[in-house]
Amino acid sequence: MKTFESRNAYFDRLCNTPGLMWLGQNTNHFDPHPSVLQAVTDALADGSYHAYAPPAGFEALRRLIVADLGLADTDATAFVTDGAVEALYNVCSRICAPGTDFVTTDPSWAWPMQFARQAGSRVVELPIFDAAQGYKLTAKQLAAAVTPQTRVIYLVDPNNPLGTCHTADEIRAFTDIARSVGAWFIHDATYAQFADAFAPAYRFYPEKSIVTYSFSKWLGLAGMRLGAVVSNPDLIEKVADAPPNNLGSNVLSQRAAIAGLRSKAEWFPGIKQRLRRNQQVVRDAAHAVPGLTVLVYPSQANLLVIDTTAADIKPEALVAAYQEHGIMIRQGTYHTKRFGHRFVKVSLSVPEAWADAFCDRLPAMVERARSIELAGPLF
Ligand SMILES: Cc1ncc(COP(=O)(O)O)c(C=O)c1O
Repeated sequence: MKTFESRNAYFDRLCNTPGLMWLGQNTNHFDPHPSVLQAVTDALADGSYHAYAPPAGFEALRRLIVADLGLADTDATAFVTDGAVEALYNVCSRICAPGTDFVTTDPSWAWPMQFARQAGSRVVELPIFDAAQGYKLTAKQLAAAVTPQTRVIYLVDPNNPLGTCHTADEIRAFTDIARSVGAWFIHDATYAQFADAFAPAYRFYPEKSIVTYSFSKWLGLAGMRLGAVVSNPDLIEKVADAPPNNLGSNVLSQRAAIAGLRSKAEWFPGIKQRLRRNQQVVRDAAHAVPGLTVLVYPSQANLLVIDTTAADIKPEALVAAYQEHGIMIRQGTYHTKRFGHRFVKVSLSVPEAWADAFCDRLPAMVERARSIELAGPLF
């Protein structure tokens, strides 16, 4: 079977598993604010989805996105996309080219590396899976890696899967390094809303920073496909020139996003509290099992990374064991070939009952992982 067929069948099976507990894709499974659902049902009822949305997104939404990133006082402007992944695809295919380097961390998010390779760039991955550097990129590492050939520095911040987040000073140092070689700085802010503090690179390097934004995680719209690319008007003019989708993103999703952003201050702090509670119970449960360690705590994203090395089990085996019980968690190899054999990732913006189900079963799942036969590849 072709890889795309087995990957599709894998996710189709998960999507069609009744009651599956999604603790693997960093999606948000809390009920949304009532105004979000109302906006979707209103847009369905009034038929406004019959028309295409404006190509760069509803103006109200574009302004709200820039404001949510804390950039309302700058000239940054937003182009709404079908998820952050489309924003990354558009940007990478436009600025990566043969003879140039795309520098990122290891672990990082794999798809933009694929987009960069496809456009001809060489991908350089800087290892950050190391307690000695706090599981973060250092300015020293980045400075040693860049050259005049560096076209892009791509930073997922907060990092998926590690959950570390960089300070404003660190981001400023990175953008100074980008400027020294004329590289673009792509700041993937997919998890920014879960961090205690987030400093968008655009603040320090407006001439060549691009921030990518997602509604999949904080607002829980993964299946409604909505995100954005935020940068200076010149870059957005280029991005808007021949985008993969030039007929506007989903009207229902955009109405949901506008309602979500307008009501965010009211309800999102509560979501963060519930997420932190889940992080705490999972950390405690993991530390009660010999050989398991939570590497970054509290995580600044909606996930936790659990090191399985000392428990002497394969991450894939633990994932398969949980799947037998209707719980999806993610193996490290999804993110990194080099370090993936050492950890699993557990996503925790989910109902407390799901996090508790993960914890209750953990000792038994570790035992099951010792003997389980993998039925097929995991994605
Ligand atoms: C770092 C990172 N960027 C982008 C995305 C994709 O976001 P979206 O669902 O908005 O396309 C993900 C999804 O997991 C991600 O982890």
